[in-house]
Amino acid sequence: MAFNVIGNLMLSRDLLDSQCKEGYEFFQATGMAAMWAGTPNVADFLPFLKWFDPQGLRRNMSRDMARALRIVEGFVKERLEEYKLGNEEKNNKDFLDTLLEFEGDGKDWHEKIPYERIIIIILEMFFAGSETTSAATEWAMAELLRKPEAMRKVKEELNEVVGENRNVEESDIEKLPYLQAVVKEALRLHPSVPLLVPRNTMQDTNFMGYHIAKDTQVFVNAWAIGRDPDSWEDPLTFKPERFLGSNIDYKGQNFELIPFGSGRRICIGMLLAQRVLLLSLASLIHCFDWELDKDSTTPETLDMREKIGMSVKKLIPLNVIPKKRPRIMAA
Ligand code: HEM
Repeated sequence: MAFNVIGNLMLSRDLLDSQCKEGYEFFQATGMAAMWAGTPNVADFLPFLKWFDPQGLRRNMSRDMARALRIVEGFVKERLEEYKLGNEEKNNKDFLDTLLEFEGDGKDWHEKIPYERIIIIILEMFFAGSETTSAATEWAMAELLRKPEAMRKVKEELNEVVGENRNVEESDIEKLPYLQAVVKEALRLHPSVPLLVPRNTMQDTNFMGYHIAKDTQVFVNAWAIGRDPDSWEDPLTFKPERFLGSNIDYKGQNFELIPFGSGRRICIGMLLAQRVLLLSLASLIHCFDWELDKDSTTPETLDMREKIGMSVKKLIPLNVIPKKRPRIMAA
């Protein structure tokens, strides 16, 4: 779903529709490239091994990135062909249309985006926006299933605000403070990009008594910040109530909660992610009752170990059984 949302916004395509043959290959290629990017590389620690590529990571990455780039380039070329045929008259421009409007030789950098960069920008949106969103949805669901009391409160709120006879709409979201608190709490404990995007110091810096030399790569540990006992009471407990009546938000102003980063490099997709997370969680919970497979786990024993990659996912994917709630009428 997260991947398809990006496909629609960027390219106006349902990439995971069975009719779209390149879509599934693209999904697979980006998934594989994300996996290689997130695999720890021995050669990063022992640089003399770099040329041997002992785990084959460079080789595999080159292959899957090339596949992904070739497919995106195909999408872009197709769009340019449509323009030539005069089919560009559309009511809704997508992100690719907007990028192509500014296509150029790159000399006038703020107005002209070189063709190759357009392809990279499109690809980057898929890398940055799909796994992050799906991982966050999965963690939020897992936490709710471990805490039936919180799940009950979400359902009650949905029943009260949305009612039993229709589906959730975007306009309902602002009237669901408990659900919003659930999403904040899930992102506090499980930020999809736990070390944010690496920074480099531009000059020698003294920070809290530490000397940090120019050109040092710096990681900000948003994961540890979200679990810091100096900032959070009972930090390891999933407790959405802590955000009710609190002004703390993840928009980059409150440094104790920075799952989307902060400052000039803050996630550009934050508001989109927020909408998708809230709407998809609300819809999943409002339309279905979710149960853990009782033969394999209980709320108390649900496996919450993490798997590091480009984004942090559950090591063991969440396995749940949906039961359609009969009262809800199909949209
Ligand atoms: C739950 C979902 C998401 C989370 C947790 C997340 C988190 C982040 C974080 C932590 C950063 C680095 C910020 C920093 O270092 O200060 C980032 C960057 C970025 N995000 Fe997101 N993100 C999410 C969804 C999205 C979506 C849906 C998109 C776009 C469609 C997106 C596009 C980007 C891009 C392009 C960057 C790189 C910006 C740059 O080059 O500096 N993200 N995101």
